[in-house]
Amino acid sequence: MPPLSRPEKIRPGEVRPEEVRPEEADRDDARLRQLRESLASVRERIGRGCHAAGRDPAEVTLVVVTKTYPASDIALLARLGVRDVGENRDGEAALKYDDCAALGLRWHFIGRLQSNKTRGVARYADLVHSVDRPSVVTALGRAAVRAGRTVGCLLQVSLDGDPARGGVPVPGIEALAEAVALEPGLEVRGLMAVAPLGVDARVAFAALPRLRETLLPAHPGARAISAGMSGDLEAALACGATHLRVGTAILGARPPLR
Ligand SMILES: Cc1ncc(COP(=O)(O)O)c(C=O)c1O
Repeated sequence: MPPLSRPEKIRPGEVRPEEVRPEEADRDDARLRQLRESLASVRERIGRGCHAAGRDPAEVTLVVVTKTYPASDIALLARLGVRDVGENRDGEAALKYDDCAALGLRWHFIGRLQSNKTRGVARYADLVHSVDRPSVVTALGRAAVRAGRTVGCLLQVSLDGDPARGGVPVPGIEALAEAVALEPGLEVRGLMAVAPLGVDARVAFAALPRLRETLLPAHPGARAISAGMSGDLEAALACGATHLRVGTAILGARPPLR
């Protein structure tokens, strides 16, 4: 798509281009410049991290975590070539998905999933990174079938066994994968992890390729490793991450939750 001469408005009809006030256009231009720079610097980090690990950057998907940021930022990111966005709250994600439907993005759900939110999530999520218990699997599977969609699932692994932070403990991974595989609307696509607090991310993430190996014989499609955020993406790349979830390094420090 050729670059537009001015930032597009993402709700066509709500504000027509000729009604965009000059100060609004200036603000969008400034934000676009900011996002272009931060995105370039993250892409550079990914390039360096891949080079250091002897990996091809083309095998890494950058998921830009847009939670708490407006749909207008997503539209700007799309103009900068972003194709994957991550959200962690269903209500917020659903509104932005509707606003951004024309942009053709892939939507990643990365937040703690509750069974009563699965219906919404199954409508827009291509990949749910945070599948961590059987009750959610059943509900998400049912919702995916009802929506007529296939939803990819990553099993969120608890690398420190602390249930408060979400994730299935390592001994439960295979049974959870089985539960996902039994749902017609779901596919097992791999693993996801967040580095435990106070642990060297490189040490924590080093377990992931081995855990994936244990899944692959029964689930050959489980190739993805989602790990690495703004502060530890290099460690994740060194440990084989195929999906990075990066928010603050691109969009800035998140506004406090209201
Ligand atoms: C599961 C998950 N992954 C990735 C991110 C992005 O983190 P950061 O903003 O540090 O890049 C967040 C942010 O809250 C998150 O909850």
